[in-house]
Amino acid sequence: MCGIFGYIGKRKALSIIFKGLKKLEYRGYDSAGIAVLLDHKIHIKKSVGNIDALADKFNNTKDNSIISKATLGIGHTRWATHGNVTVNNAHPHVDYKKNFSIVHNGAIDNYNELKHDMQQNEYKFYSQTDSEVIVNLINQYYNGDFFYSVQQTLLHINGSYAIGVLCKQDNNKIICARKDSPLIIGIGNEENFLASDISALLPYTNKMIFLENGDIAELYVNNVILKKLNGQQKTLNICDISNNINNISSNKKKYKHFMLKEIYEQQYTIKQTYEKLLDTHDSILQICYNIKKIYILACGTAYYAGLVSKFWFEQFTNIPTEVNIASEFIYSNAIINQNTLIIVISQSGETADTLSALRFIKRKKCTSIAVCNTFKSNISLEATYVMYTYCGLEIGVASTKAFTGQLIALFIFALNLGLRRKQLTDIQHKEYLKELLQIADKVKIILGNTINIKKIARIFARKKSVLYLGRYINYPIALEGALKLKEIAYIHAEGCATGEIKHGTLALIDRTIPVIVIATNGITYKKTLLNIEEIKARNGFVIALQNETNNVLIKRIGFTIYVPETIELLSPILNVVPLQLIAYYTATFLKHNVDQPRNLAKSVTVE
Ligand code: G6P
Repeated sequence: MCGIFGYIGKRKALSIIFKGLKKLEYRGYDSAGIAVLLDHKIHIKKSVGNIDALADKFNNTKDNSIISKATLGIGHTRWATHGNVTVNNAHPHVDYKKNFSIVHNGAIDNYNELKHDMQQNEYKFYSQTDSEVIVNLINQYYNGDFFYSVQQTLLHINGSYAIGVLCKQDNNKIICARKDSPLIIGIGNEENFLASDISALLPYTNKMIFLENGDIAELYVNNVILKKLNGQQKTLNICDISNNINNISSNKKKYKHFMLKEIYEQQYTIKQTYEKLLDTHDSILQICYNIKKIYILACGTAYYAGLVSKFWFEQFTNIPTEVNIASEFIYSNAIINQNTLIIVISQSGETADTLSALRFIKRKKCTSIAVCNTFKSNISLEATYVMYTYCGLEIGVASTKAFTGQLIALFIFALNLGLRRKQLTDIQHKEYLKELLQIADKVKIILGNTINIKKIARIFARKKSVLYLGRYINYPIALEGALKLKEIAYIHAEGCATGEIKHGTLALIDRTIPVIVIATNGITYKKTLLNIEEIKARNGFVIALQNETNNVLIKRIGFTIYVPETIELLSPILNVVPLQLIAYYTATFLKHNVDQPRNLAKSVTVE
């Protein structure tokens, strides 16, 4: 949710900032802007739309050739929170005297009070944003000392921020700081960078400083000075992240969209994740030995991964497991103690709702484990333990490979915990693992045959509504399939428990609404067949996901999508893949911007 980037060095800043923002565009793409500092003057260009729209604006301005000489600057790509999508609300913002410029990712809680006070003192505001208040406050505290004015400002604001600030008078540095929003400094040779994520820095350096909450840093061409908010200097903890990134690249390669690339990457990311996680760290198993209750907290797609894994935890470990939407959990009266294990699942590790639920339970002194795809993200740092999924950066806003990565991580953890707690025998443990190790190849088979999937997507592209049905461990997959279609195709879709539709949803069935039924083998199969009959009897148009061994359905339904057979407990990992592809192709037939669906953002850092 908003991406920020900054550069100071000897090269021309503008093109570097553009490239950085392009990498960060998945974080927000409704408007963008860049500010550079040249000869004690701040030059700003902003536009509504994505980074390409901003580039067009630059190309068409008179002062372009002057601005492009600058060697320091900051940029921002926005997902609107305070104030609608306008050029005035786009970042960078300046104070009313035009002495400072800021880019900000986060949300300031007390901005209205601060704004009101400043308005009594001749301060003028030109946007509806909270960020404009920060930059005016910096100006208000300025006494010739740039660092002091930023420091004082940060001491007076409440909320979350990652900021980059330029000062007209002090044109040899950028000041940046963070609290609860991500910010990383990239250390180059005679140049330094700041960015919201690693991917924007990787083209320039592997040496990075992950700022901690309350850090404030001065970036010079040849130096970085890191301090705590109280002014106390900190030693630079420079990580060489070459060992922490995997070989899943963040370029689109031959694919038209990141989402399609990420769906296809699952054949590798699944393998990569289970290879890394097969042996759950002993200390984690040790601490979980006496656990009596598990709560899983997450949002969106990650929440559905939690719903699937509940069945694994309960079956393998015999521990009652409850899955909660993170934003709702903070209102619950759940009894949490030392025998409770909290698992938070988050691709980005930044989602404010999940982070806030994690902080809520941390006060209760229980153990927490984060299943996370982003190295050194807030959630991964704040949980007691972290299990990284090794999926590489996920850029498409609709989560795909991170979801299957989460499932793999949770399956293995449940399995290993079950063995440790002696709820599973060695033989059972091995049998399950054997099945798991075949999953990646089976995903590959699904990806190799998309003929029916595309035909179905063509039909969906003309529909107003679609129903997704699943039972037992595939009910969450029905929910996830429906979410994917809503997110990127903007078609109303509802995921239902197959057995539940006769209690209401069946009233919707007629020829016009396609019904996708997950009907792969397992204990639910026979009942699902019966439910399909009920839908057919009401002239419903049924599309079934099934295994080839059960082709009895073929002649009597609209379409069949075959998925390779596996044990029912693992079937969600396969069944979700065709549903991801259906959503993808439906959205492309409708010519939607698949990677950047309207109104959404990848990392949702506000509650
Ligand atoms: C956003 C994304 C979803 C994602 C959810 C949770 O809404 O658009 O795709 O599932 O956030 O994200 P997280 O990073 O916590 O997994």
